Amino acid sequence: MLAVHLISFFFSKLQEDPTKKVDRFLHAMRLHDDQLIDISARFQAEMKKGLSAESSAAAAVKMLPTHVRSTPDGSEKGQFLALDLGGSKFKVLQVKVREGMGVRKGGVEMEEKIYPMSKELFNGRAPELFDHVSESLKDFLHVKNISLDKKHPLAFTFSFPCEQTRLDKGLLLSWSKNCRARGLQGKDVVQALREAIDRTGGMDIEVLAMVNDTVATMMTCGFDDQYCDVGLIIGTGTNACYMEELRHVDLVEGDEGRMCVNTEWGGFGDDGALSDYITEFDQDVDATSINPGKQIFEKMVSGMYLGELVRLVVLKMAKLGQLFDGLVPDALRTKGKITTAHVAAMEEYKNGLKNTRDILVELGLNPSQDDCVAVQHVSTIVSFRSSNLVAAGLAAILTRIKQNRHLRALRITVGVDGTMYKTHPQYAKRLHKVVRRLLPECQVRFVLSDSGSSKGAALVTAVAQRLASRKRQVDETLAPFKLSQEQLQLVKATMRAGLEAGLKNKGPSAVKMLPSYVYHTPDGTERGKYLALDLGGTNFRAMLVKFKKGLQNNTRLYHKIYTVPLEIMQGTGEELFDHLAQYVSDFLDYMGMKKAHLPAGFTFSFPCEQTAIDTGILVSWTKGFKATDCEGHDVVNLLREAIKRRNEYDLDIVAVVNDTVGTMMSCAYEDPQCEVGLIAGTGSNACYMEELKNIEKIRQKKQKTEGDEETPEMCINTEWGGLGDDGSLDDIITPFDAEVDHNSVNSGKQRFEKLTSGMYLGEIVREVLLDLTRGGLLFRGRVTETLKTPGIFQTKYLSQIESDRLALLQVRSILQHLGLNSTCDDSIIVKEVCGAVSRRAAELCGAGMAAVVDKIRENRGLDHLNITVGVDGALYKLHPHFSGVLQETTRVLAPQCNVTFLPSEEGSGKGAALITAVARQKRDR
Ligand code: BG6
Ligand code: BG6
Ligand code: GLC
Ligand code: GLC
Repeated sequence: MLAVHLISFFFSKLQEDPTKKVDRFLHAMRLHDDQLIDISARFQAEMKKGLSAESSAAAAVKMLPTHVRSTPDGSEKGQFLALDLGGSKFKVLQVKVREGMGVRKGGVEMEEKIYPMSKELFNGRAPELFDHVSESLKDFLHVKNISLDKKHPLAFTFSFPCEQTRLDKGLLLSWSKNCRARGLQGKDVVQALREAIDRTGGMDIEVLAMVNDTVATMMTCGFDDQYCDVGLIIGTGTNACYMEELRHVDLVEGDEGRMCVNTEWGGFGDDGALSDYITEFDQDVDATSINPGKQIFEKMVSGMYLGELVRLVVLKMAKLGQLFDGLVPDALRTKGKITTAHVAAMEEYKNGLKNTRDILVELGLNPSQDDCVAVQHVSTIVSFRSSNLVAAGLAAILTRIKQNRHLRALRITVGVDGTMYKTHPQYAKRLHKVVRRLLPECQVRFVLSDSGSSKGAALVTAVAQRLASRKRQVDETLAPFKLSQEQLQLVKATMRAGLEAGLKNKGPSAVKMLPSYVYHTPDGTERGKYLALDLGGTNFRAMLVKFKKGLQNNTRLYHKIYTVPLEIMQGTGEELFDHLAQYVSDFLDYMGMKKAHLPAGFTFSFPCEQTAIDTGILVSWTKGFKATDCEGHDVVNLLREAIKRRNEYDLDIVAVVNDTVGTMMSCAYEDPQCEVGLIAGTGSNACYMEELKNIEKIRQKKQKTEGDEETPEMCINTEWGGLGDDGSLDDIITPFDAEVDHNSVNSGKQRFEKLTSGMYLGEIVREVLLDLTRGGLLFRGRVTETLKTPGIFQTKYLSQIESDRLALLQVRSILQHLGLNSTCDDSIIVKEVCGAVSRRAAELCGAGMAAVVDKIRENRGLDHLNITVGVDGALYKLHPHFSGVLQETTRVLAPQCNVTFLPSEEGSGKGAALITAVARQKRDR
């Protein structure tokens, strides 16, 4: 019985398919999908490590920023020399890029010459290697009849890991593959090349950019395919790069836009991350390489090592008697005897088996048919593992890109180069298949870079040239918005002069300095129930305020908001005030107080000439209002008449108050140091407590009327928005501001307000964008109807666009929502424009505020003033940077004042109610 078993076992062994034997032997190299998913996840973790500032220094996968910020867009142009060093061939090239044409239309012309590169040069001293490079370059100029007198821009593809701080500077981190020239590690490779060019002499070469081969490949393929955001090399070495969101690249400042990251994935596993996938053959390959312990992943994948892996496997099987009847010829024991070209030949369709036999015979073997089948299968397993590993790495990169973009599915193109990919018949097909299997939700296209990487390197250089020139032009356009310290000091001085002039009673002045008849900030004794009406900000508000006995801050508020339609803002005065009376009626209904005959305070956020707390003659409309028959009239009367016309309820309007004054009072209720009010909203204005003796218009009247000797101060509504109406700001007013003013309802008026407030900032931005677009610097030069539409950029959009928390993609989606189709570069520029305009606004407000607080300090003869400013307005409250810049500018321009900015909690209505409370007490006394 036993004998029967033995015989059948013997026969089964004899007849066994030789591939099964190899499968068993190389079990560890046959990776299943779950293992690939596991490797892919590990690589994702390594990428994160390499990108983060804390862990990048020790990371095995280096994730090197390349300073390439965009892929080609077809507008690149120019003529460049190119060097290509680091692959299996060293080349010198000339690349001509014609504007606006894809390569298929003949947009790029290239001439190249391959120069020899010896093993000795790769193993010798770096200066000699670079001398050879530059002499080859000079020879190329000579051979191709290229002028030696002219300056030539040069692009340098250097296929080794470099730490780049700029496009034209990169320190060599370590050699890889077959090169280890001494004296370059840690040094700037571009500088080394420049020095060699100088040594060679007789050429005028400007090295503009150095790029890794992966990057150059991505750019080459990106010229014809705008979805190409990944570059892949499977050649002598292996590596990949991709477009990463800049905010994830800790090592580069700024978080706008994207940057290509050279992963240097060849180093994956150098820290042991792949130890459970490493076979004894991998260990042998590593141990006998020029860089043991380094480039572990590369050694499992790339062309330089695959032949060797196959040799080591076959050798071991032969030694174990599983091949060639145990015969082990010397050739098989010799490193390098099986090459990657052999591996490709063995796997060739139809001829593969015959090729395998020929190769083995060449090695001094006399293989059986089974031997040939087995060795061919070894090749297949080794190269299959390689493509599987590349697929896992690629899946990690694509998954990352997908997550960065918050997409469930992704359409993307991978540009590929390298002899292994190009010459191995099955490799590419297997790779594509596995990637698509691992990422079924992604539409991945592979494009072979058939013209090498130099075209891409030239494109990087061209893009760099173009971006530099575009940046210069955008900077030039925005330069007038960037105010120097001297200019801001001047604005402060101009504002100070404006305040002083307005206090004098010599006819109208740009800064009106309107007395408010508010003599005190609140003292906490205010009591009672008041109605507060509030017109002039974004909305009309009606509010019921109750101040209770006892504790300060014991206030209760009820309010309702009404939107005033544009046609009412700009219709007749009677219609406007009838509308307000109707809103009040609605509010009283809502509160059930129609019969209450409440005392009311009216916040009216426009310049009013006051002669008492309850009269206010509208000097002129500002912001978007222009209702007829109001200017020159007492707005309290206009409201009283409208209420009378309704004949439905009664109100006792006790006070009319500017919003700045209301805001100051409201904040002063919380903080007694609050003696200034500021609005940075639809409009821009400030008020402050001025000494009565300085207010000439009041002093003159006071001599005639009752004295108020015990009250040395009064709040002045500066109406600083009018600064510059006399031309005093002309030096800083840009043509864009002039255009905005020209298109406004009150041209020539409120010039300071038009530089600083929410109602106008969006319009200034739009004017700048229009100009940049007309100049071809934005939106591909297309001026759309949307862009020509006034008012599209409301303050809330500016605030969103400038938010630091938003990725550029989100900025693009805001622009998209506004009907503006932008590229990534466009959105960077739009954000920059918004930033320049809003920063200037905040700085100007700061300069104005510095003038106000310094005046108060000087009034009081103090060296140092502690003061609080009560603030309200959408620009201050919603914009991400406005308040910070405002505060910083005030601090710098008024160094002797310690200014605290206190946002008003309930708007100016509460302040108006407080003023009403005081006014009524006084009246009733
Ligand atoms: C070439 C590039 O096309 O591909 C080289 O121009 C690059 O820079 C190479 O290194 C990669 O392939 P290989 O097989 O030559 O290493
Ligand atoms: C509110 C005030 O809180 O702020 C209004 O009550 C004022 O009177 C407004 O005009 C300013 O803000 P905006 O952004 O609405 O103009
Ligand atoms: C090596 C180099 C890398 C290059 C790759 C392909 O891995 O370190 O920079 O991209 O080979 O050539
Ligand atoms: C405008 C008005 C002013 C108001 C400011 C803020 O400048 O003229 O009175 O305070 O806007 O709303």
